[in-house]
Amino acid sequence: MNILFVGDIFGSPGRKIVREHVHHVVESNKVELLVMNAENSAGGFGVTPAIAEELFELGADVLTTGNHVWDKKEIIEYFNSANGDAKAQARRVLRPANYPAGTPGFGSYEGTTKSGVPYGVLNLQGRVFMATNDDPFRVADRLVAAMKAKVILVDIHAEATSEKMALGHYLDGRVTAVLGTHTHVPTADECVLPNGTAYQTDVGMSGPYDSIIGVEKEMVLKRFLTNMPGKFEAAKNDPRMAAALIECDATSGRASSIKRLMLGQ
Ligand SMILES: [Fe+2]
Ligand SMILES: [Fe+2]
Repeated sequence: MNILFVGDIFGSPGRKIVREHVHHVVESNKVELLVMNAENSAGGFGVTPAIAEELFELGADVLTTGNHVWDKKEIIEYFNSANGDAKAQARRVLRPANYPAGTPGFGSYEGTTKSGVPYGVLNLQGRVFMATNDDPFRVADRLVAAMKAKVILVDIHAEATSEKMALGHYLDGRVTAVLGTHTHVPTADECVLPNGTAYQTDVGMSGPYDSIIGVEKEMVLKRFLTNMPGKFEAAKNDPRMAAALIECDATSGRASSIKRLMLGQ
């Protein structure tokens, strides 16, 4: 079976380019599981319930996020509205699983594809150069072991290449794919690890590439040159959809291939 994972969707340019491409990629590859990282889908910062539902309408089965998950306050109420009900749409929006106990929302999800294949999605956040959360390695141990599904996709939202690669090897043979997000720059290291886990350090951003990681260049430059606070806005030009297409065995969950996708206008 084929799985498509769409990297960090950034603002309306990101949503628009995903809308333009996702259907034909899903159809031509018979994709059965579609996961998108939505942490920047609302103007570059966070995700709103309305935007989450817009992405579900595009066919997303599960949405992952990352450190920007709390930028839009409405998401907290949305998380709480699901109240753990696996059938609720809000339950299929994840925040990193290794946030402190008691944080609203859930970090993993288990469902079944239209053709009846059980799957799991796990969202984790790194700790290197990021906020201090629980150990993503031990949290992964616990949550992967608890999953009934064999087809398991892990989104490791992290800054450091080494931490993501370490998690890939740590989970090799236990999950279908370990895919990195957060840096917004796709890496050319996609591979299937020795025990059958597909891996890519960063899938890259689905958003405006004429930017500094999605934001208008002048605004980011001003921040670096002055160290003063200022507004950040999503850039507009050169939108591209970055994604990873993974082929795996639906019974064992082991991956046989991973392909890097980058689709522009
Ligand atoms: Fe992001
Ligand atoms: Fe991020």
